[in-house]
Amino acid sequence: MVQMQVKLGQVTLRNPIVLAAGTAGVMGEIGDAIDLSKIGAITTKSITQESRNGNAPIRMATLQDGMLNAIGLANEGIDSFMHNQAPNASSIDTTLIGSVAGDSVDAYVAVASAMDSIDGIDLVEINVSCPNTADGLEFGGCPKRLAILLNEIRPALSRSGMLVKLSAAPGDIRPHAQAAIEAGADALTLINTIPALAIDVETRTTSISRGIGGVSGAIIHPIALRVVNDIYNDVAKSANVPIIGTGGTMHWKDAAEFILAGATAVGIGTASFVNPALSLKIVKGLTSWVNRQGCSSITELIGSVKLP
Ligand SMILES: Cc1cc2nc3c(=O)[nH]c(=O)nc-3n(C[C@H](O)[C@H](O)[C@H](O)COP(=O)(O)O)c2cc1C
Repeated sequence: MVQMQVKLGQVTLRNPIVLAAGTAGVMGEIGDAIDLSKIGAITTKSITQESRNGNAPIRMATLQDGMLNAIGLANEGIDSFMHNQAPNASSIDTTLIGSVAGDSVDAYVAVASAMDSIDGIDLVEINVSCPNTADGLEFGGCPKRLAILLNEIRPALSRSGMLVKLSAAPGDIRPHAQAAIEAGADALTLINTIPALAIDVETRTTSISRGIGGVSGAIIHPIALRVVNDIYNDVAKSANVPIIGTGGTMHWKDAAEFILAGATAVGIGTASFVNPALSLKIVKGLTSWVNRQGCSSITELIGSVKLP
């Protein structure tokens, strides 16, 4: 029996497969379709301080090798989440990651500390791909701004580990990853969707109402893999901070690539829209691969790609 457990900070996951924020329901509704006890962890939808309707429809479009979305962080807000969802958190049979978004430092801190108080949530993921309403710029776009945000959030997490989810949009995100680690990140989630455009050539309109959206799925996998490998080699390995490699994992081989590139865990998003059970197949395929590699634990394979 190969050992598939991995650690994110102080928390041990039964295997490295993590269902990504916004793709498994508000808090694990995907459990109606699959057995969550076979998954390493699931992430909630990103929750904000106030409820949000999100963007007007059409908010999602299918692309040849992925999907484009501009949901706009539609969610019920933290008060309703605490009332309607939080009481069920401890009955979910896997590690639960609470995802936090906001439009000001205070709003992030309020939601993060509420998440931290929930019995059943041991990890809080900070989604920093959200604009600061005061200046319209994304918190995650600038390492200094990111440090200011995370230095306020960190003390608000008295029990939970802090995961920081970065976007690849700023280009070289090594300084952003460094800032997150210096502010006390227990793990980095890399990456969020990538800003992109799709056009319907018959109607000559953009495929989704907002125009620009975030692309996800197979189409972004090689980009996410490169980002994970860069951050692992140049920032995270020496600091001993694990990475959740996320982006376009549709098959166990994509997950194995993330592990070889330096990820400790692997996020699954778009694949669950194609078939909610794909994550279970990925767990099985990954386990057989570790066995075939002659390893007793998947951790032996982290970052072990032979680079040129
Ligand atoms: C419909 C949809 C909704 C998403 N909502 C969130 C969200 O609320 N918070 C967040 O951090 N990421 C969100 N994401 C991004 C995913 O968590 C993930 O980072 C991204 O889709 C890349 O992984 P994938 O290619 O496996 O889908 C969303 C993605 C999709 C497709």
